[in-house]
Amino acid sequence: MNICFIGGGNMAAALIDGLLHRGADAATLHVVEMRAEARRDLQERFGVAVFERLSAAAVAADVVVLAVKPQQLPGVAAQLRPLLNTQLVVSIAAGVRAADLSRWLGDYPRLARAMPNTPARVGAGMSGLFALPGLSETERQRAETILAAAGGVLWLDDEAQMDAITAVSGSGPAYVFYFLQAMEEGAKALGLDAAHARRLGLETFRGACRLAAQSGEPFAELRAQVTSKGGTTERALQVMETAGVRRHIGEAMAAAAERSRELGDALRTEGDSHAE
Ligand SMILES: NC(=O)c1ccc[n+]([C@@H]2O[C@H](COP(=O)([O-])OP(=O)(O)OC[C@H]3O[C@@H](n4cnc5c(N)ncnc54)[C@H](OP(=O)(O)O)[C@@H]3O)[C@@H](O)[C@H]2O)c1
Repeated sequence: MNICFIGGGNMAAALIDGLLHRGADAATLHVVEMRAEARRDLQERFGVAVFERLSAAAVAADVVVLAVKPQQLPGVAAQLRPLLNTQLVVSIAAGVRAADLSRWLGDYPRLARAMPNTPARVGAGMSGLFALPGLSETERQRAETILAAAGGVLWLDDEAQMDAITAVSGSGPAYVFYFLQAMEEGAKALGLDAAHARRLGLETFRGACRLAAQSGEPFAELRAQVTSKGGTTERALQVMETAGVRRHIGEAMAAAAERSRELGDALRTEGDSHAE
């Protein structure tokens, strides 16, 4: 499978890294990237062919992955439109809906949309994937292979769920870092030094996640196992429940999903006016 990435930033680099680790040949990968420094880095790091501008030669591939910022997508779509023939297009741009992008590409039907997350940088990402109806099994498989190179993949039947995926796994790493930051600050306030505070939080998260994944038990059950009557954990959890931490997390995620819908609407309006 030959792949052309348009936009060679963080996410594209994570996917390329993953594909190469999984045995892809660097000769099958093209990257179109405007910034000279980024082109040089990609070439040195991965040995892939780099292009400064979109051209027929650059997009001569089985799959074109759109990895530019959402606001840059309408402009890229206008340039890409005359260069498409049978390529599968996979967009990882947050918020831009598949039907909108398809329209900007001249009602192009071979399109999938993905929502990855930043742990893709270490091969531990989680992506939601949605395809326009009518994509062949081979095309779906190709889209999945690209995202799976950076971690887990979840297929969605309804694109509206992409807003939920964005609020859960897309933004989710930030919630985890937020919690880790709070634990680090709390540990320092209890007198631990910076290195210990960081390590204890990180290892606790890592260990708890592994335990939850391996045991398969409900989270509430695993929580109960740490919470003896009248003990320290019970006291801590009482403080969190009283402060409404769990409820606030749910509200925060609902707010993120709402923002994702808003961005989708705004990008549609912006993109349509650009495409006119
Ligand atoms: N990072 C995340 O957590 C995350 C999660 C899910 C989805 N995404 C999506 O992934 C996409 C890429 O994100 P990123 O973090 O990798 O962004 P990024 O680091 O800014 O990478 C995009 C790159 O594409 C370049 N570019 C812009 N227009 C171009 C064009 N016409 N031709 C060629 N290259 C062009 C940009 O150059 P300039 O800097 O000069 O513009 C930049 O180097 C975004 O749409 C984002 O929504 C990101």
